Amino acid sequence: MFSRIIGTGAFVPEKTVTNDDLARIMDTNDEWIRSRTGIRERHLFEEDAKDKTQTAAIKASERALVMAEEKGLKRSDIELIIVATCTPDHAFPATACVLADRLGIGSAAAFDLSLACTGFLAAFSTASAYIGSGMYKNVLVVGVDVMSKLLDFGDRSTSILFGDGAGAVVLSGDERFRGSCESGVLGSIMRSDGSRAGVLSCDSIYKNEDRGGVLHMDGRAVFEFAVREVPKLIKELCEGVGSVPSYYILHQANYRIIEAVAKRLREPMDKFPYNIDRFANTTAATIPILLDELFRSGRLREGDEVVLSGFGAGLSLGAIYLRL
Ligand code: UT7
Repeated sequence: MFSRIIGTGAFVPEKTVTNDDLARIMDTNDEWIRSRTGIRERHLFEEDAKDKTQTAAIKASERALVMAEEKGLKRSDIELIIVATCTPDHAFPATACVLADRLGIGSAAAFDLSLACTGFLAAFSTASAYIGSGMYKNVLVVGVDVMSKLLDFGDRSTSILFGDGAGAVVLSGDERFRGSCESGVLGSIMRSDGSRAGVLSCDSIYKNEDRGGVLHMDGRAVFEFAVREVPKLIKELCEGVGSVPSYYILHQANYRIIEAVAKRLREPMDKFPYNIDRFANTTAATIPILLDELFRSGRLREGDEVVLSGFGAGLSLGAIYLRL
């Protein structure tokens, strides 16, 4: 059975923080941030907001479920919820269990997984493997991160890069395509290199209810890793599938990374949609937020072929080839 996206949703908190706003509290400026990263602004939760991760996950999921319901899905048809996050509100219960209850899908199987910026790719490929095996038919996959919990606004080299947000997709097994390659996940590759774990890390996310430890990053090392490894992985995936997609939907970490990947793949930039200018890097949420924008604007349609690719802490990376 092949997996098809039948609903998408996204949420970012109301508060917009521009580069100029950051320049008021640290030694930076709009010109540096825009030219080095492509970011103009990001959305961040108010510091005293409660249950930030859950709130974002619930709102994005509600929107994805409404879209899926318009296509005939009943909420009770969701059998599994997977939440990718590295910034849960608490160690346990899993965000996915709380989400199941809040969405009125109380009996669904539910778990979280953590792979930072590659988290959504891991959750999506896990969901499609479950659907492919016939174990579950309808799965809600959520990528959510509240990076403001881990940022040190005294560190200008990391704190300017991130935003808070959530994106969700409803994946559904389509029996019309059982045993054929007409639709769904045509290929998927996930890789990791734990020998370079120290390049991007955070010691704790549970220091207190609203704040975790602090994110540490060798930005240059992550940049070089992404630019070198992501095009290689995408090439390997596309060669395996034997096709070239209409769009490459990359993790939104830095506009210059997207440009460099496009160049190495010898593909034009208009095949690389982006929204990092408005939302910055929302970690596990970047890809589903972008997917939601592309579906709702009509830029992505049934039958389109797309590659999703994520990369980051681990170090880890992944790519999925999808026919929508
Ligand atoms: O999801 C994966 C998460 N990680 C990433 O996406 C990180 C990928 N890496 C990057 O995006 C880039 O490496 C950064 C944007 C983090 C940094 O860009 P860069 O071109 O690698 O700059 P750099 O770290 O080499 O710093 C260049 C200069 C330094 O000054 P000096 O030593 O040349 O005088 C920094 O101190 O820029 C300075 N700098 C800043 N200046 C103004 C660093 N951050 C800032 C800032 N504003 N916010």
